Amino acid sequence: MKKTLTQKILEHHLVSGTCIPGREISIRIDQTLTQDATGTMAYLQFESMHVPRVKTELSVSYVDHNTVQIGFENADDHRYLQSVAEKFGLYFSRAGNGICHQVHLERFGRPGKTLIGSDSHTPTGGALGMIAIGAGGLDVALAMAGEPFYLTCPRVINIHLEGHLQPWVSAKDIILKVLDLFGTKGNVGSVFEYGGPGVETLSVPERATITNMGAECGVTTSIFPSDAMTLRFLKAQQREEDWLEFAADHGAQYDRVVEIDLSKLEPLTAMPHSPGNIARIRDCEPVPIRQVCLGSCTNSSYKDLATAAKILKGTVAHPDVSFIIAPGSKQVLENLARDGYLADLLAAGARLMENACGFCIGNSQSPPSGSASLRTSNRNFFGRSGTRDAQVYLASPESAAAAVLTGHLTDPRDLNLPYPDISLPERFHVDDRLIIEPMDPESAAGAPIYRGPNIGPPPANEPLPDSLDGIVTLKVGDHITTDHIIPAGERMKYRSNIPKYAEYLFEIVDHTFFRRAMQIKESGHSNIIVAGTSYGQGSSREHAAICPMYVGVKAILAKSFERIHAANLINFGILPLTFLDEEDYDRLADGDRLLFPDIRSSLVDGDRVRLLNDTGGISMEVAFELTNRQKKILLAGGVLNRF
Ligand code: F3S
Repeated sequence: MKKTLTQKILEHHLVSGTCIPGREISIRIDQTLTQDATGTMAYLQFESMHVPRVKTELSVSYVDHNTVQIGFENADDHRYLQSVAEKFGLYFSRAGNGICHQVHLERFGRPGKTLIGSDSHTPTGGALGMIAIGAGGLDVALAMAGEPFYLTCPRVINIHLEGHLQPWVSAKDIILKVLDLFGTKGNVGSVFEYGGPGVETLSVPERATITNMGAECGVTTSIFPSDAMTLRFLKAQQREEDWLEFAADHGAQYDRVVEIDLSKLEPLTAMPHSPGNIARIRDCEPVPIRQVCLGSCTNSSYKDLATAAKILKGTVAHPDVSFIIAPGSKQVLENLARDGYLADLLAAGARLMENACGFCIGNSQSPPSGSASLRTSNRNFFGRSGTRDAQVYLASPESAAAAVLTGHLTDPRDLNLPYPDISLPERFHVDDRLIIEPMDPESAAGAPIYRGPNIGPPPANEPLPDSLDGIVTLKVGDHITTDHIIPAGERMKYRSNIPKYAEYLFEIVDHTFFRRAMQIKESGHSNIIVAGTSYGQGSSREHAAICPMYVGVKAILAKSFERIHAANLINFGILPLTFLDEEDYDRLADGDRLLFPDIRSSLVDGDRVRLLNDTGGISMEVAFELTNRQKKILLAGGVLNRF
């Protein structure tokens, strides 16, 4: 049978199940990556598994998110991450070396391999012809311990690229077109597999812009074949020995085929406040732009910044525009400097930020109130820039440079300049001294792990008891997000200290929640949360399950759950229960005592359980939709206990 590239790699790594779309399968993981915001918890969990050394072919711990030092917490986390990496056999990419996805592409990614990373833009690695998937920190910890990774076998959608890009149109415009065609919803459980003659015209960094932002469509991952362009990139990275040709079979069957003619694309933008809100720049109002940010894990390669430098050479930024650049890696920055492009950018007024996520996560460089910012990053959600009333547009480096010059949203073709055709260097200058290699096993055995006061103990949970006796600690409405459950922003610095972070649970909904929950836990009862529809939407933040587990939440009763959050609840031993009759939601109130007399046996035997509302004197049935594997995890009190 003719196979897609996705099928080939998945089947080669298959541990259990059958590769039929919609079925649960598990695969062997070759590589993992973490970043500092999610990494500390992943390594605390890994430590609790008592595995002396990572069992993957290669694992890397990156520091790129919270690199700004205000207080000791971030510095403590970085030191912990470094000591854990050395001890357990991981590579450690120091703060300043670059953003995880850019560095992984340059130095570690390999065609045909599987990678999971505790960051949603891990699919960037698909540019090298690997299956690269974003996952929770606990899944990454399990993969490092040699466990398989479970996923729903995806449908494979072929995006067939014809023709070639016209001057002033670039890879960002391709993925914006894909977002225009597919939107940001309804693509869960799919893989975008790129093919067709247009693929041959795209370099690996251009492909990476496309695979990176596939995450905005909600797909499992995106992938390109590994071909002559891949070899060229790996040669330039001085690691051609990592190359392997990999492509779909001719005549492979896809679930859907969508064709894009690159020759017909025009400069596009994602308008506020969604990456799926796409328009041709030519059709937009010439909105005044007060800030331009070039960088993030999406468009921060050598070519992206060199292109902007060539457009801006000999000019200076419009007086109303603050022009910010954040190269994706130290390698990019050094090569720009060697080739003179950095000097051109600085002369044009660029403000050079650290090689890190920086402005992309709102850590710095919030735009002025009520203004518009044009960014080459991948997300423009409301408030993400740090300025609540800012309007953020996403566009290509070419369009960003045009706005730097004119001070407003501009189709770069209107600059009437010669197009700066930049080709990749044959050989990049490579210096890996900011990547610390793992210790040899003998020295690692005696190596210390540094834990400052910001590193708390990993939280533990009990197996599910035979019956539950709980109190409704909180009743909430529809669309409760992970931000409602546990805030990010300033509070995120406590991410490695669960007892401290848990104090902020539901802070913006009911600031007395934590105190009440701890009282209920100490009285010997379980905490139960009652919710409306789409509970846990927003992000894959595991802390929205870990912190509730820590305060003794045993079950969430909701009208419906967001998929990733439900999976996280299961991983941490919290029952996601749904109302069979949605009107039962109205029959429960804050403070009600709820009894589940046979919770354990009900879970083993079926898909529903009877609960008694002891306060209201009524009973009702609620349901759980779980695979046998998930049931076993819940019975054990979470994945860690089961492991
Ligand atoms: Fe960092 Fe933003 Fe990418 S936070 S990993 S640059 S999406």
